[in-house]
Amino acid sequence: MNEAKVAEAVKLTEQTLLPEVEMISADPRHPVEVPYIPSGWKLLGAGNYAAVFEHPEAEGIAVKVYAPGRPGWERECEVYGKLGNHPAYAVCYHAGFAAEKHYLLLKKLSGKTLYNCLLEGTPIPEQVIADIDEALEYARLRGLNPRDVHGKNVMLSKGRGLVVDVSDFLEEGPCTMWDDLKAAYERIYTPFLSKRPFPIPVWVMEGVRSGYRWIRKTSELSGKEDEPADRTGNSGHEH
Ligand SMILES: Nc1ncnc2c1ncn2[C@@H]1O[C@H](COP(=O)(O)OP(=O)(O)O)[C@@H](O)[C@H]1O
Ligand SMILES: [Mg+2]
Repeated sequence: MNEAKVAEAVKLTEQTLLPEVEMISADPRHPVEVPYIPSGWKLLGAGNYAAVFEHPEAEGIAVKVYAPGRPGWERECEVYGKLGNHPAYAVCYHAGFAAEKHYLLLKKLSGKTLYNCLLEGTPIPEQVIADIDEALEYARLRGLNPRDVHGKNVMLSKGRGLVVDVSDFLEEGPCTMWDDLKAAYERIYTPFLSKRPFPIPVWVMEGVRSGYRWIRKTSELSGKEDEPADRTGNSGHEH
């Protein structure tokens, strides 16, 4: 990405997106809502802390805007610095603050989150799981601690696996989300769903998500797991 293109995208973001976009994050356990998107911009996805947009005049760039009051922006920049170039991760081209919002210009990753693959019945090949495993190992070798790796933070892209959200990789302590997802892939997906995947209704997905959170919380309370607080200040929360 050349510097002039990044400077153009900064201008576009600071002049047309940030002053007008409306974002609401009432609860850090649920996705940020975006009631108003300025014309020309498109929402690529929303996490529990930020929403990500694209614009046809900023080709190849995804703009991640943190909801007011939600932390993590500086650390995410730092993680991208440590990751360097790897095919399974985005790159951070610029970090800024304007119209009272923190934002990052990231390399746009094209694909579908594994969460959406399940919702839509899109087959998830084994290669995707292997790629993500390899990418997480690479992050560990760079001194990072891959955390918060759940279905909305990983993507299928042309048969390969990508990691879209690295904002918690500087946190300490164990996180079993990816191992749990992988176990579900091996024990449930491969034997029952892989041959003929069918769309899983949103209420089932959300039920599994809440159930998972409840089980994790209960096992932590009963002392089975010693998971420290993440950037939400609570353990077991995903974003
Ligand atoms: N670089 C990117 N390219 C394309 N889409 C992205 C990119 N980063 C994030 N997204 C989309 O935006 C969603 C929210 O981004 P994420 O970084 O997970 O936010 P949060 O930190 O709030 O969880 C993701 O689930 C994904 O759908
Ligand atoms: Mg996320």
